[in-house]
This record gives sequence, C-alpha cells and structure tokens, in this order.
Amino acid sequence: MTARILDGKAIAARLRLDLKAEIARLADKHGRAPGLAVILVGEDAASQVYVRNKKKACLDIGLISEEFSQTLPAQTSQQHLLGLIAELNANPKVDGILVQMPVPEHIDPETIIEAIDPGKDVDGFHPYNVGRLAARMPALRSCTPYGCMKLLEETGVDLHGQEAVIVGASNIVGRPMALELLLAGATVTVAHKFTRNLQEHIERADIVVAAAGKPGLVRGEWIKKDAIVIDVGINHGNDGKLTGDVEFESAAQRTAWITPVPGGVGPMTITMLLSNTVQAFREHLGDNQ
Ligand code: GUN
Repeated sequence: MTARILDGKAIAARLRLDLKAEIARLADKHGRAPGLAVILVGEDAASQVYVRNKKKACLDIGLISEEFSQTLPAQTSQQHLLGLIAELNANPKVDGILVQMPVPEHIDPETIIEAIDPGKDVDGFHPYNVGRLAARMPALRSCTPYGCMKLLEETGVDLHGQEAVIVGASNIVGRPMALELLLAGATVTVAHKFTRNLQEHIERADIVVAAAGKPGLVRGEWIKKDAIVIDVGINHGNDGKLTGDVEFESAAQRTAWITPVPGGVGPMTITMLLSNTVQAFREHLGDNQ
C-alpha cells in the first residue's frame, strides 16, 4: 500500500483562508482586528526566521502584529522584558503575547512564560493552560500538538483506543501532545531519552508522533503496517536539506498516513498560533458566536 501524505501545507492554507474570513467579519463587528505581540530577544538565526514567518502570517490574514511586536537586544535584562510583558498584558488591543524561545541564558524562560496573562498565552505554554488541558478543560492549547491533532483529524481515523507512541517529552511538544491524545481517547506512551527499547514501543504503535529532534531516530522498518506517522522533527542536514526524525522512504512503505518534512507539521504550528489569537480575541470580547 502507498502511504497517503498528510499535506500540512495544503491543510494549513485551507484553515488560514477560513481564519481570514472570520477575522474580517470579527473586525467589522468589533471595530478592531485581533492583535498579536511577537517578542524576540537576541539574534538567534533560526528564531529570526520563525518570528519573521509568524509576523508575515499575521499580515496575510489580517491580524495586527507589527504594531505591538518588538525585537530586543540580546543583553536586555529580565526585568525589562517583564516590564514589557506587563504593558502588553494591560493593553486591551493586544489579544496574544508570544516570546520566542529560546531566550538568552541570563533570562529564565519559566519566569517569562508565567508572567504572560494566561488569557493572552497563545503559545499555550503557561502552566495554567497546560493544566487546563491536563484537567480535560482545554483553553489555549500548545500550537504544535494542536496542529498535530488537526492533522490526525484529517485522516478521519477514530482515535479512541488507538496505541499512540510519542517520542520526546519536551514541554513544547511531547508532554502536551500526550495530554491531547489522552483527551482524544488514545492509549498513550511517551518515550524519551531514558526509554530502554524504543523499537519495541514503536512496533506496536498505531500512531507515532516523533518529536525528538534526531534525524532518522525512528527506523522505517519499525513502523507497524497501516500506522499513522506524524513527524515533528526539523533537522538541518549537511546537504542543506531538512529531514524529520523518521526515515521517510522506508516508513512510507508501511504507513496508512505520513507527514512529509518539510510541509507537514511546520505550517500547522503557525496556523494554530493564528487560530489561538482569534480564540483569545473572542474571549476578551465575550464573542462566542
Ligand atoms: N521556539 C520553538 N518553538 C516555539 C514556539 O512554538 N513558540 C515560541 N514562543 N518559541 C518557540
């Protein structure tokens, strides 16, 4: 069987068109469009690309971002950053606040994340929002896992009782992904760097979500026939090519569905950030139509 490709780029484009129409309608109704502040501290090259892409995505669909966003020098103090977050928390035109990670070493990321108003935490990183998801009352959800759930939804497969194995236990992907899949009724295993026999876990998985950041960590031959593979890995090869954490060619011989890298999960992450900003806006204005 040939694998069907979960085309994140196409799905994201469709969702963004829907969001664009919704934003135009909401802006007309409320006299302002949703606002997203994107804060970058320092000059990390990858972060600069991500932030540029996020701001461009906002512009493309009618969210206001440039006006509230700032790029700060690497030596910015934690106190200054906390002051900026307090201003943005208090600004009624700002619905979402995102501080691009990683922040420079002298700044504590947890302190920054906890300083953001949970109602404006469109990354879904604040312990309040992670806790809401854990307690089965999701509010603002982490963008990458939320995007993976949208991709799984596209397959039409009922997730109840499926064996899901997540590779990687980070705060940004692995952990919230486990909570999402649990909420959707899957039986969830989280493998991480201390896991003894990764192959054994992968071999029984109906759904594999790979988010370890290690190219080729998940061997294609381990994948169960007709499994669904969501590859969150973005690894830069020496040849300039991007690859995921899963050996794509050999895995695709066995899977029912698989995401490509690039063009799978990546475009969905930013889309869910846009969607979260619209959700936060609606909640701030009490508009749940
Ligand atoms: N760094 C890597 N991914 C992310 C993300 O989704 N949000 C933020 N704020 N920083 C990141």
